[in-house]
Amino acid sequence: MAVKRESGKIYFSRQKPVFESLPNRGLKPSSRRCEAMGTLKGHDIISALQFTREDLLRLFNLAERLREEIREKGILDYAKGKIMATVFLEPSTRTKLSFTFAMVKLGGRVIDFDVSRSSLAKGETDVDTLRIIDGYDPDVIVLRQSKPGFPEQIAPMIRAPIINAGDGPHEHPTQALLDVYTMWREFGKVDGLTVGIMGDLKYGRTPSSLSYALSKFKDVTIYYIAPQALQIREEVLKNIEGKVEYHLVNDLSEVIEKLDVLYVTRLQKERFKDPAEYERLKGSYKIDAAYLKKFKHIPVIMHPLPRVWELDPSVDELPQARYFEQARNGLYIRAALIKEVLGV
Ligand code: NCD
Repeated sequence: MAVKRESGKIYFSRQKPVFESLPNRGLKPSSRRCEAMGTLKGHDIISALQFTREDLLRLFNLAERLREEIREKGILDYAKGKIMATVFLEPSTRTKLSFTFAMVKLGGRVIDFDVSRSSLAKGETDVDTLRIIDGYDPDVIVLRQSKPGFPEQIAPMIRAPIINAGDGPHEHPTQALLDVYTMWREFGKVDGLTVGIMGDLKYGRTPSSLSYALSKFKDVTIYYIAPQALQIREEVLKNIEGKVEYHLVNDLSEVIEKLDVLYVTRLQKERFKDPAEYERLKGSYKIDAAYLKKFKHIPVIMHPLPRVWELDPSVDELPQARYFEQARNGLYIRAALIKEVLGV
């Protein structure tokens, strides 16, 4: 898929879908510029860079509205008659479940692709698998895959809008939505926040997407807190250059009192080629309640989860702990995103 840059924005241009014989649900929009009305209807969601500030604020407000409606009515009927396919070729708990719950609460149905019993085991390619699923005519496909850039590569071949639910170490745009939504709910704004992102910034996909979403707001400062070997990738810094003030540090104690939010991430064990390197870095940035209580100011603590050893359960008791609420927010912001992408 061609990505065109115009005046700092990214436009994902579309080619004609290949399944001409399928019922016509309308072509994917040819570029973000055709959205005079401001909606993500029919769009592939590939990167957090593609959201505008307006998209983000609109989705946050829609998520609040849906939260209220779901509280009142339980199951809504916006997505009645619509089908979401979930295709997770890497493990997932929260992302898959919150997309599933969100679609069901919107009144739609979900068909899950069971990778463990599929023909991928017979050697079928991911591309063929996706084209077959698309041929059954889902209204949206939520895809997690280990190859960076795969959703972007496959999107022009697929008629249904694709939502990237994580492409290896590269990006996780809907996690960024729920992360920034959580900050917005907490502080009533995102402009002006100072956010520390700590942990495995090299192999993690949440730090990149979170940085991109934060870069859409004004006067945001990011402290990347990590041992040298795990620091944020150059490509991420290039993408936020001039939009965010950022600092690379390796000692949390030096900056913790400046932070509004501390976003902790786990070491991505499965992405380490050398197990000895994982063992060397294990435990290098752990926080617990006793450590945090040494400081006059404790920031709001967030984590995309799952946590392993880096975020001790003793932190759960602190009033600043937000990670369970953050995971729950994923349900509402994903419901908002699905509603927009479906155009219902
Ligand atoms: C994250 C992921 O899959 O990248 N998890 C999630 O979606 N909540 C973070 C992680 O696995 O470390």
